[in-house]
Amino acid sequence: AQRVFSGMQPTGNLHLGNYLGALVNWVKMQDTHDCVYCVVDMHAITMWQDPAALKSAIREVTAAYLAAGLDPKKSIVFNQSKVAEHAELAWVFNCVARLGWLNRMTQFKEKAGKDRENASVGLYAYPCLMAADILLYRATHVPVGEDQKQHLELTRDVAQKFNNDFRPQIEAAGFADGFFPMTEPVIQGPATRVMSLRDGSKKMSKSDASDYARINLTDDADAIAQKVRKAKTDPEPLPSEPKGLEGRSEAENLVGIYAALSERSVEAVLAEFGGGQFSTFKNALADLAVAKLAPLNADMRRLLADPGFVDGVLKDGAERARVIAAETMNHVKDIVGLLR
Ligand code: TYM
Repeated sequence: AQRVFSGMQPTGNLHLGNYLGALVNWVKMQDTHDCVYCVVDMHAITMWQDPAALKSAIREVTAAYLAAGLDPKKSIVFNQSKVAEHAELAWVFNCVARLGWLNRMTQFKEKAGKDRENASVGLYAYPCLMAADILLYRATHVPVGEDQKQHLELTRDVAQKFNNDFRPQIEAAGFADGFFPMTEPVIQGPATRVMSLRDGSKKMSKSDASDYARINLTDDADAIAQKVRKAKTDPEPLPSEPKGLEGRSEAENLVGIYAALSERSVEAVLAEFGGGQFSTFKNALADLAVAKLAPLNADMRRLLADPGFVDGVLKDGAERARVIAAETMNHVKDIVGLLR
C-alpha cells in the first residue's frame, strides 16, 4: 500500500502558505492513500518555545488540520511526542547520517543565523528526526511545500545508506528490496511556494516580523480582506498569459494564490483578469480568500471551544500510530543488532 506521512510545526499560527503548499494536498490524498498526519512538537523545541504557548499551538494546529478537512477516522492524526519511537529511530539515523550531509542543509544555516555556535544540537540534527518521522511509517509519499525538498533528499539518503549498511540483515529478515522505501516528495499545485505579501522575493513565513506579510488561518474576514488589498504589487495591469508574469514576483504570487484557492489554472485566471485593473483582481481575490478561509477559521474556533475533543483525536491517533511505529522499531532493532 502507498502510505503518506506529513507534518507541521506548532510554532505559532499556520498561514496561507502552509494551507496551500501542504494542507490542501493532504486532504486530497486521504481518498487515495493510507495517511498519517503529525503535529511535530519535538521539531518545534529545536528553538526555544514558551511552554504554555506550545501546548496551545499543538491544539490549534490540530484544529486547523481538522477544519481544513482531515478526517481523523480516515487518517491518523497525532502529535509527535506521544509516540516515543520517533525519538528512538531519530537516534539510529543520527548514527547513519554523515556530518557532511547535515552541513549542507540550508534551513539550518538560515535558522541558526550568524551565531551558529549557539544553535541547539537539536536544530542541527532536525533533518534526522524528520527522516525518522517519515520512515517510521515507511511512507512512500510526502506532500510538502517546495522549501522541504532538501530535507526529503536527505531522507532518501538516510534510507539508502541504512538499506546498504545492513543489507545482509535486511535480506535475512525477508525484505528483498531494502527495508526503507525511497520516499517521494509530492510538491504540487500552483502554490508550492507562497511568497510574502510585502516582498515577492521572500517566502511567506510564521517568523516574518510584519503580520501584513502573511494571511493567518486564524485571521477574520476583515483582516484577510485588508491584507489582500494592501498586498504589494507593481503598477502594471495583469498580463493575459503566464509568461507576462516573469520578473513580476508579487503579481505572480497573487495570481498563484488565486489559482490555488479557486482550483483553476494560472492560465484560466489570467484569461479572466488579464488586461484589467489590479484593484479589480485584488477585490476578487479578497472575496475568494474570505469565502475559502473564513469558514475554516470559524470551524477552528468551534473545535477549540471543546479542548477535550481535540485531545481525544490526538490520543486516538497516537494509539494507532504506535502500532505501526512499534513494528518498524522492532525490525530496526533486530536489523541493527540492538537486543530487545
Ligand atoms: P513547516 O512547519 O515549516 O511547514 C509546514 C508545511 O507548510 C509548507 N510551507 C509552505 N508551502 C508553500 N509556501 C510557503 N510559504 C510555505 N511555508 C511552509 C512546508 O513546506 C510544509 O510542508 N520540517 C517541516 C515539518 C516536518 C515534516 C516532517 C514535514 C517535520 N517532519 C515529515 C513532512 C514530513 C517543517 O518545518 O514544516
